Amino acid sequence: MNRFWSNIAREITPYVPGEQPRDKVRIKLNTNENPYPPSPGVIECLKEAANEDIRLYPDTESRAFCETVARYYGLSPRQVFPGNGSDEVLAFLFQAFFSPHNLVAFPDVTYSFYPVYANLYRIPYREIPLREDFTIDFSAYPQGLKGILFANPNAPTGIYIPPEEIECLLKSRPDTLIVVDEAYVDFGNESVVPLVNRYDNLLVVQTLSKSRSLAGMRIGLAMGHPQLIEALNRIKNSFNSYTMDRLAQAAAVRAYEDDGYYREINSKIIRERESFKKTLGEMGIPCTDSKSNFVFITLPGIKGPDALNLFREQGILVRNFAKIPRIADWLRITIGTKDDMVRVVEAIKKIVER
Ligand SMILES: Cc1ncc(COP(=O)(O)O)c(C=O)c1O
Repeated sequence: MNRFWSNIAREITPYVPGEQPRDKVRIKLNTNENPYPPSPGVIECLKEAANEDIRLYPDTESRAFCETVARYYGLSPRQVFPGNGSDEVLAFLFQAFFSPHNLVAFPDVTYSFYPVYANLYRIPYREIPLREDFTIDFSAYPQGLKGILFANPNAPTGIYIPPEEIECLLKSRPDTLIVVDEAYVDFGNESVVPLVNRYDNLLVVQTLSKSRSLAGMRIGLAMGHPQLIEALNRIKNSFNSYTMDRLAQAAAVRAYEDDGYYREINSKIIRERESFKKTLGEMGIPCTDSKSNFVFITLPGIKGPDALNLFREQGILVRNFAKIPRIADWLRITIGTKDDMVRVVEAIKKIVER
């Protein structure tokens, strides 16, 4: 801290992302990246896009990307907002829709960037406890909120809410903006995107970082009523006109065109997840019914940070949220390849038999 720091820089508690080790760890399962590479078409597209045109600014509206997404979901391009990773889209939406005079709410256990943005933009918020079984209880959310945000499937629990339940929420709270962060929806779940045609209080946020293997490129998006998208564009164009670069735009379009490839790799992940949950059940290790590309477990009698270290000693990086007391003894383990998961099961056996 020094005398030039603003009050915000002084007071904020920044988000702490999962570790990205510089040396190759044996098995990296701490940030929910896809264990499979992007489609060969995406790599080809990136090579082609790395040409002399890079001297020119990219399309500020990422039109080809918005048109591709619109076609994919049966929307109009005016219902799609492109971003440099969904974290950026989330930051913009906090500014576009919320202010220090409104109250927003999200679960006490969810993506831990939500409270960071709320604090950064001085937006008052309530963290509503999940039920004992980690499910979201919408009836516990007070009336009159400006916004409700949650991830579906939720992170780090992986628990999924079907569209019917979200539709009830949209209907019962027409003046509350419902933000559904679908970062992990492609791992075998139904998206609520079709509902954006019927509910102007719904904004769906997605990312290409997980199911489309592009975490290193930073591509995210939001879908909603054109007037919601317009507000996001007003914020974006007051911050940085060119959020998605030329390479990202080219890769993102191709990632939707190569949908068959992604369905295939993601079904491998889903199969691996289900088999891992079954093995955990047989071993008597509690885990949630995750519908995501990670599993949330607790090793009885072992403190979360200790468990994290015991995995690390065996060359496996996983994630623990020690600062959130309710889940301090839980671990989030990304689903890797079949081989990765064999190693994880071996590691768990060693840890519990200690
Ligand atoms: C629930 C959720 N939302 C959003 C993100 C951010 O994704 P990105 O900024 O890579 O698009 C993550 C990343 O882990 C996440 O878990």
